[in-house]
Amino acid sequence: MAAEDKHGSTNPLRDPRDRRLSRIAGPSSLVIFGVTGDLARKKLIPAVYDLANRGLLPPSFSLVGFGRRPWSNEDFAAQVKESVQAHARTDFDENVWKQLAEGIRFVEGGFDSDEAFGQLKETLESLDAERGTRGNHAFYLSVPPKSFEQVCQQLSSHGLAETSEGKWRRVVIEKPFGHDLQSARELNNVVESVFPADSVFRIDHYLGKETVQNILALRFANQMFEPIWNANFVDHVQITMAEDIGIGGRAGYYDGVGAARDVIQNHLLQLLALTAMEEPISFDADHLRAEKEKVLAAVRLPADLSKHSARGQYTGGWQGGEKVTGFLEEEGFNPDSTTETFAAVRLDINTRRWAGVPFYLRAGKRLGRRVTEIAVVFKRAPNLLFRDHNDHDFGQNAVVIRVQPDEGATIRFGSKVPGTQMEVRDVSMDFGYGHSFTESSPEAYERLILDVLLGEPPLFPRHQEVELSWKIVDPFEEYWASLDTQPEPYAPGSWGPDSADELLAQDGRTWRRP
Ligand SMILES: NC(=O)c1ccc[n+]([C@@H]2O[C@H](COP(=O)([O-])OP(=O)(O)OC[C@H]3O[C@@H](n4cnc5c(N)ncnc54)[C@H](OP(=O)(O)O)[C@@H]3O)[C@@H](O)[C@H]2O)c1
Repeated sequence: MAAEDKHGSTNPLRDPRDRRLSRIAGPSSLVIFGVTGDLARKKLIPAVYDLANRGLLPPSFSLVGFGRRPWSNEDFAAQVKESVQAHARTDFDENVWKQLAEGIRFVEGGFDSDEAFGQLKETLESLDAERGTRGNHAFYLSVPPKSFEQVCQQLSSHGLAETSEGKWRRVVIEKPFGHDLQSARELNNVVESVFPADSVFRIDHYLGKETVQNILALRFANQMFEPIWNANFVDHVQITMAEDIGIGGRAGYYDGVGAARDVIQNHLLQLLALTAMEEPISFDADHLRAEKEKVLAAVRLPADLSKHSARGQYTGGWQGGEKVTGFLEEEGFNPDSTTETFAAVRLDINTRRWAGVPFYLRAGKRLGRRVTEIAVVFKRAPNLLFRDHNDHDFGQNAVVIRVQPDEGATIRFGSKVPGTQMEVRDVSMDFGYGHSFTESSPEAYERLILDVLLGEPPLFPRHQEVELSWKIVDPFEEYWASLDTQPEPYAPGSWGPDSADELLAQDGRTWRRP
């Protein structure tokens, strides 16, 4: 007989040794607002299909699109199929598709339409009755940030956020959560007045990445790293998120936002928190988030922001044999825009573990390569026995966690060069996901959507983390806004403005060139 798991799913093929089965979502529907947008088309809808294809969604699962197009359910299903075929990670399977398509519905309307929200309510009630979704509904707000509050309020006033015994309602909020501390608090007040705090899932899709979760595995499933993961041995930490592309058609979103708000406030500070936090007593959401919050609360800003921060804007020029447009000439931009496309900051952490160890964070567009990595750089050996035999200065040991695109980790250390001299040079020992595992990594959104449906919050920052992160970023933003200058220009394909190099040079260090 098929067993029912804690989420109410049944599976006739259940094998108690297969730990995946406890992670199949129970009966539920997912409503996507902003379903015609870029994120929904390229990431969310394909992720839903990939989950279905991996057998992780229940047969009753239903997908409801909400949008302003005059589409029937069939028209919407055709759009869904198109984005699945174009962007899904797993192969297209007609049987999986057929089952998923049976639960696809579309509700036409704008966010200001009471009629459309009334229609949405009826649609969800009929799915509960026809398909057995049991009143369990997740609302994914893949919409412009200015609409988060309006959609929450509409859900509330149409009774869509109300739950009763044994039913759940959850809301998923895309990033950015506010544009500073004040606006994040205001948004949170609205969202948490509609949904209880444990039903709010704030997306930072970096946390859904395998390589980001692997920071925890690397640190806490091994004995060899933790003893040296502190100020006694670590010289400094560099966290880099470099993109090789420019802003392209995203002027509307990026102007007035910039690199610090766009990615440092969320992705990079989450990476810092995971790298620097103490071991949680378990991976339960409360324990994990409490440790991240402690370390974010211990971050100390530099006394002189002018010396310990840098910002830049890419200019036009050549990158990879292609002529590219400068930021200020990109279509739709204010030619006097002071929005930074590159930002670098130094942060310190006031804890016994990290006192005196700078964390350098940098993020930028149109840089030399697309790469996100965390480099923990160690102090030099106290006595360099081999120095006399070296005609070069060999480097410091480092553990580099490669988040993307070449997922893995590297350990850098000195090794003897073959030959008759005792010459030592830096070499690396490498772990690559592609070499060690046969299965490909799920997309971050697969993991996160599944966690929403399962009601598992560890990979979603709670409001306190968001607030603490804005408290770190806001002073830099205020300082930059007070300057009467443009961000410093940098050439496309470079590693940012000169001031970023100076930021480290004054501390006697250099950025890695990944
Ligand atoms: N794209 C990404 O890779 C990415 C990455 C990280 C985070 N995000 C976040 O994800 C969210 C969505 O981003 P996106 O890039 O998908 O944006 P987008 O392409 O501009 O899509 C916005 C969506 O919202 C809908 N919409 C806007 N106003 C509406 C209204 N009044 N009534 C009904 N629908 C309305 C649009 O519908 P129409 O088609 O009818 O205009 C469209 O479906 C944003 O919060 C963004 O910050 C996106």
